[in-house]
Amino acid sequence: MKLVCVQLFLLLLLSVDTLGISAEDSNVDVIIIGAGMSGITAGKTLTANGITNFIILEATDKVGGRIRNSDFAGYEVELGANWVEGVNGEQLNPVWTLAQQVKLRTSLSDFSNLSSNVYTASGPLPPQTDADAITTAQNEYVINLSVNLTANGDDDISVLTAQRSYGSVPSTPVEMVLDYFLYDGEYAEPPRVSSLKNTQPGPTFKNFGEDLYFAADPRGFATIIKPVASYLQSKDGKYVDPRLKLEKVVNKIVYTKEGVTVSTEDGSTYTAKAAILTVSLGVLQSKLIDFQPDLPFWKLEAIFEFDMAIYTKIFLKFPYKFWRTGPGTEFFLYADDSRGYYPIWQHLERELPESNIIFVTVTDDESRKIEQQSNNETLAEIMEVLKSMFGPDIPEAEEILIPRWWSDRLYKGSFSNWPIGVTHHEFAQLQAPIDRLYFAGEHTSALYNGYIHGAYFSGIDAGKDEITGKINLRCTNQTGIRHTEATMAKESQQPKASSQLKVHLIRHAREKL
Ligand SMILES: Cc1cc2nc3c(=O)[nH]c(=O)nc-3n(C[C@H](O)[C@H](O)[C@H](O)COP(=O)(O)OP(=O)(O)OC[C@H]3O[C@@H](n4cnc5c(N)ncnc54)[C@H](O)[C@@H]3O)c2cc1C
Ligand SMILES: *[C@@H]1O[C@H](CO)[C@@H](O)[C@H](O)[C@H]1NC(C)=O
Ligand SMILES: *[C@@H]1O[C@H](CO)[C@@H](O)[C@H](O)[C@H]1NC(C)=O
Ligand SMILES: *[C@@H]1O[C@H](CO)[C@@H](O)[C@H](O)[C@H]1NC(C)=O
Ligand SMILES: *[C@@H]1O[C@H](CO)[C@@H](O)[C@H](O)[C@H]1NC(C)=O
Ligand SMILES: *[C@@H]1O[C@H](CO)[C@@H](O)[C@H](O)[C@H]1NC(C)=O
Repeated sequence: MKLVCVQLFLLLLLSVDTLGISAEDSNVDVIIIGAGMSGITAGKTLTANGITNFIILEATDKVGGRIRNSDFAGYEVELGANWVEGVNGEQLNPVWTLAQQVKLRTSLSDFSNLSSNVYTASGPLPPQTDADAITTAQNEYVINLSVNLTANGDDDISVLTAQRSYGSVPSTPVEMVLDYFLYDGEYAEPPRVSSLKNTQPGPTFKNFGEDLYFAADPRGFATIIKPVASYLQSKDGKYVDPRLKLEKVVNKIVYTKEGVTVSTEDGSTYTAKAAILTVSLGVLQSKLIDFQPDLPFWKLEAIFEFDMAIYTKIFLKFPYKFWRTGPGTEFFLYADDSRGYYPIWQHLERELPESNIIFVTVTDDESRKIEQQSNNETLAEIMEVLKSMFGPDIPEAEEILIPRWWSDRLYKGSFSNWPIGVTHHEFAQLQAPIDRLYFAGEHTSALYNGYIHGAYFSGIDAGKDEITGKINLRCTNQTGIRHTEATMAKESQQPKASSQLKVHLIRHAREKL
């Protein structure tokens, strides 16, 4: 059996050669596509297990993917991931460990005074402790209900359904913005869309702790990848290893049981025994990469069922501060009649005290709208909001920065969100390899999808999958479904679709009796 595989593999190489395609590096073992946290971690995992004959193809000119900083008005701001989420709990978040290793500059985010910093179209409100208490009690109920559903093996419902069963849904502008902060602010999609059982309580906060640390480091948040990427760096931390190939946009993947051939837009072709694909869920949902043969229906279904959410931080630079400063003022909310209209605000007094920079966060449809209109139109909308919050005499903004993650063909959104209707069995299809093609990335982490630590764990998982037999035992009969510690931990909490269905059928049968 093994012999046949090797022969087929050689045949593949030969045929590529006779077609006259420049098959550089055709003898590598593994091609990793994407140099974000998951791709870099997958490479480290291979390295640690003695597999060093691999390359990493990355479309942009840098390592880091969705962890990316940019100069804005002379300061470094984070366009993508900004927080180490889940700290000071029972388990240690590996991203927090990395942050310590590089002595990343962070600050603990304190949201406890949020309800005293709510503004409406007619200015600041007095402290809103009541509204906050209502939201908190409702969220506690929502979490309790989720725990009960899971314990009973009941079907999933949306977060909104859970809120309705509490007896009231947020409806005033203030209730809506507090609700937006709690759910959309974290998952970038509204309660109507999000799965109750897979987002409440979030395993991130349950396992790693409730605290969030905001990264504000002149070297950029992506510095945390350096300790993982040591196998690619010179002693002074520069990415010098020729296995890392930047500005290589993969546009075609031919996969068989024996190997893969990966083509890039600049006309290069690479062959290998296996590939690990770490591009975002949004890219998988797009047509950027031509798969040959087409991905099977079960895979496409999983890809299309999961959600790529959009989360946008808009940075503004002013000549001077007109917002509140001092303890308990960092985060503030704008409660508009229209839910999600420039709702979450943050100043950078602690991190960049002299900068006079603030930023506002929008998500979902507002993000889509903003990505499609001019920056001037957005700025005009924002100035109108700020004037209703702080009065007409505030200064004009000097600069604005609007990341466009959704329009960017290399991302097509910000991070994945688990929508109502995707069972854990279906989720496993998102992770499952096909022939010699493996899938990693934030969206393939069953416990921590949407987060940097999810990308990190997925890189380890995909690397391990290859090592534990699937590269060395080519042509083995693959079941396809990945069983890592993380997945198993999740499965022990979450009944599988089949058992859910069984419970449902048994109940149904009982009712009939
Ligand atoms: C605005 C925003 C805010 C966020 N906030 C947080 C936060 O506060 N905390 C947190 O933990 N997480 C946050 N996240 C999520 C976090 O950034 C991601 O979960 C994580 O960085 C994803 O890593 P990854 O390796 O899975 O994917 P990516 O980082 O997307 O890496 C994939 C790589 O593949 C490359 N690529 C894409 N297409 C191709 C192609 N065709 N050929 C070659 N290369 C290609 C991309 O350029 C990219 O470098 C945020 C994300 C965004 C966008
Ligand atoms: C949630 O459950 C806890 C105990 O499990 C209980 O103390 C609390 O009152 C419940 N809260 C709500 C709002 O149901
Ligand atoms: C959860 O189950 C417990 C025990 O059956 C029950 O007391 C509680 O009311 C339930 N909570 C919710 C929110 O369903
Ligand atoms: C809460 O915010 C209000 C309004 O900005 C501020 O006056 C107050 O000092 C803050 N309280 C705490 C405890 O930080
Ligand atoms: C945006 O506004 C600035 C300043 O008012 C102006 O100089 C610029 O031409 C405008 N750009 C567009 C695209 O309208
Ligand atoms: C692969 O596994 C399935 C299920 O265990 C089995 O039915 C099938 O015969 C196997 N195929 C091969 C080629 O071994």
